[in-house]
Amino acid sequence: MTDQSSNQMWGGRFAAGPDAIMEAINASIGYDQRMAAQDIAGSRAHAAMLAATGVITDNDAEAIREGLLTVLSEIDSGTFQFSTALEDIHMNVEARLKEIIGEPAGRLHTGRSRNDQVATDFKLWVRDQLDAAEAGLLALIKALLAQAEAGADWVMPGFTHLQVAQPVTWGHHMMAYVEMFGRDLSRVRDARARMNESPLGAAALAGTSFPIDRDMTASALGFDRPAANSLDAVSDRDFALEFLSAASICAVHLSRFAEELVIWSTAQFRFVTLSDRFSTGSSIMPQKKNPDAAELIRAKVGRIFGANTALMMVMKGLPLAYSKDMQEDKEQVFDAADNWMLALAAMEGMVKDMTANRDSLAAAAGSGFSTATDLADWMVRVLKVPFRDAHHVTGTLVAMAESRGCDLPDLSLEDMQGVHAGITADIFTVLGVENSVNSRMSYGGTAPAQVRQQVARWTDIIGA
Ligand code: ARG
Repeated sequence: MTDQSSNQMWGGRFAAGPDAIMEAINASIGYDQRMAAQDIAGSRAHAAMLAATGVITDNDAEAIREGLLTVLSEIDSGTFQFSTALEDIHMNVEARLKEIIGEPAGRLHTGRSRNDQVATDFKLWVRDQLDAAEAGLLALIKALLAQAEAGADWVMPGFTHLQVAQPVTWGHHMMAYVEMFGRDLSRVRDARARMNESPLGAAALAGTSFPIDRDMTASALGFDRPAANSLDAVSDRDFALEFLSAASICAVHLSRFAEELVIWSTAQFRFVTLSDRFSTGSSIMPQKKNPDAAELIRAKVGRIFGANTALMMVMKGLPLAYSKDMQEDKEQVFDAADNWMLALAAMEGMVKDMTANRDSLAAAAGSGFSTATDLADWMVRVLKVPFRDAHHVTGTLVAMAESRGCDLPDLSLEDMQGVHAGITADIFTVLGVENSVNSRMSYGGTAPAQVRQQVARWTDIIGA
């Protein structure tokens, strides 16, 4: 029946084969072969269900099962010949199954369509990636917790506008990222719980007249339940959009941290030393040690968010149910997933290996009049001066210190009393950075005791 000049899969309807350009624009096998394992798992579940419901014989189901395992081993060992003429992974697998087991292969597609098949395969693939992202985030959070615990009381400058603001602790800064990656983790878990419904059995768009058991295939594939509307099941790509959105937000977090590492590792800052394992040299400047891993992590958000935008635009305005436009979902998600996992792993490696330079951090912590707020707060607390007036007095003292090229604690008591007579020698304790961070005991504040409490809370949450 299938004549070489017509289409290999639907020769019944077609008299002529596709134009070469048609084949090129139509084929997805170049990339969707990454879903081979998911495709075969889906087909195995479908065939077992067809036999259990009496739609096909047990003998045929067994032949299909064996045949699919052979196909999988051929793909795994690299001997499988992928064919562009066969368009995609679904038809490549089925055609090879036909070569291996003959006639029963033709019964596998009963009560199924490539539309529910591809939605199932892709969901399984994305679900695996959500699991990988969860593992990557947990590992990164653990690495940050170790840094935070070690440096719960190491002082460093805290910034706003990248200008020195108030002293904070190293542990507190690390824990800020734990909160961010912790939210990323919860987004990943939410997305996984929401997407875990099986499209299989929705068939082309309307369901099927065969007495299939969708609960059986759903549970065989680890889904919580079958998707409840067949039109939606074949059209839904929200799960991929949610994956890309969660990836994009996480990539933004990664890029912010990466940027801080780039700044902190400069000769001007020297807050951290990145390990040689995550740095590169320059081919011309022998002294250089460049934070390339951090820079690349900083850049990854471009392609990850790009994928999110691209798929949003592909899906926008598509009528129900399946349209071939949706084949454009995969490359974006594959690329974003690969780069997200890589960025997470690289960040984890860098965090594990980096050394905080305690002395540089401490030296910088007191610079830039970072304890000016402590001085003002002390005047409010002890001298009962209104905060606005205390702010003004402190500003005058800062201007004085700046004009002399010294820090606040370098001013004499007489200098200070010249601006406000009530100031006493106690002020010098208040101006110390250790005192400053220790005093910030409000919940979520930078005091080492607070940081340790948060480290313990997170260690408990993630079971580290
Ligand atoms: N390769 C297709 C995709 O990725 C599979 C589904 C094709 N379905 C169809 N009716 N042409 O979307």
